[in-house]
Amino acid sequence: MKGVVLAGGLGSRLFPLTKVTNKHLLPVYNEPMIYYPIKTLVNAGIEEILIVTGGNNAGEFLRLLGNGSEFGLKHLNYTYQEGEGGIAAALSLAEHFADNGKIVVVLGDNIIEKNIRKAVDAFRKQKDGARIMLKEVPDPQRFGVPVFEGDRIVRVEEKPAEPASQYAVIGIYMYDERVFDFIKTLKPSQRGELEITDVNNFYIHDGKMEWDIIDGWWSDAGTFESLQYAGNMVAKTGANTL
Ligand code: DAU
Repeated sequence: MKGVVLAGGLGSRLFPLTKVTNKHLLPVYNEPMIYYPIKTLVNAGIEEILIVTGGNNAGEFLRLLGNGSEFGLKHLNYTYQEGEGGIAAALSLAEHFADNGKIVVVLGDNIIEKNIRKAVDAFRKQKDGARIMLKEVPDPQRFGVPVFEGDRIVRVEEKPAEPASQYAVIGIYMYDERVFDFIKTLKPSQRGELEITDVNNFYIHDGKMEWDIIDGWWSDAGTFESLQYAGNMVAKTGANTL
C-alpha cells in the first residue's frame, strides 16, 4: 500500500511564522513538522510515499528530505498544489501515484504518539471502502466530528458549533481507489475548499466506512496553541513510538 503526506496550503493561522517559510518546515520540538507524518507512514510499513507540497518555499522540502534516506526510504515522490483549494483538492493530485491501489493519507500537521500499524494492517485486509481514526478531545468543534447511532457513524460534521460527540476525526485517512472519483464530484464548501469530510461522508453513505480509536496522544500543529502542545508532548514522550 502507498502513502500520501498532504503538506500544501498556506498555513495562514500561523502567520507571521509562515510568512517566509512553509508551515510543515517549522520545528515541532526537535524535528521539522513534516518528519512526523512521514514517520507515521514508514512505521506502519509503508515505503512508497508521495509528498504534496504547496505555497512558499516548496523547493526546501527537496533540500530537507531528498530521497528519504534518513527515514530508511529508497525514494520519495513530490508534487505541488497551486493555491489552497482544500485537503481533498491536494489529495486529488495523488491519483496518478495511487495507480488504482489503496492509499493511506496523513495530514502534514498531524502528530501521533504511537504506531498505527494495526489499523493499517486491518485496512490492508479490508476488501474495499475507507477507514478513519478517532480521538476523544476536549475541543471537538475545531475538527471533523463523527455523529454516532449506536456503534455506527452516520455522518461526519466539519467544525460543528455544537458537536454531536466528543471525538475528532484525526488527519489519517485510508481510502480505496474510488476516492478520486468521489473528489471529482465535490463542490467547494463555505470556506472555499474541497473538504475531506465530504469525501468521508461519501463512504459513510455507501456503508463502506470502518473506524478505529487511536492509541496514545494525537495533536494537529496548525495553530499557535496546538503547535506548542505538540512540541511539549513530543518532548515528554517522543512521537511515533512503537
Ligand atoms: O487535523 C485534523 C483535521 O484536519 C480534521 O479533523 C478536519 O476534519 C480536517 O478538515 C482538517 O481540519 P483543518 O481545518 O485543521 O485543516 P487545515 O486547513 O489546517 O489543513 C491541515 C493540513 O492539510 C495542512 O497542514 C496541509 C494539508 N492541506 C490543507 C489545505 C487547506 C493541503 O495540503 N492543502 C490545502 O489546500
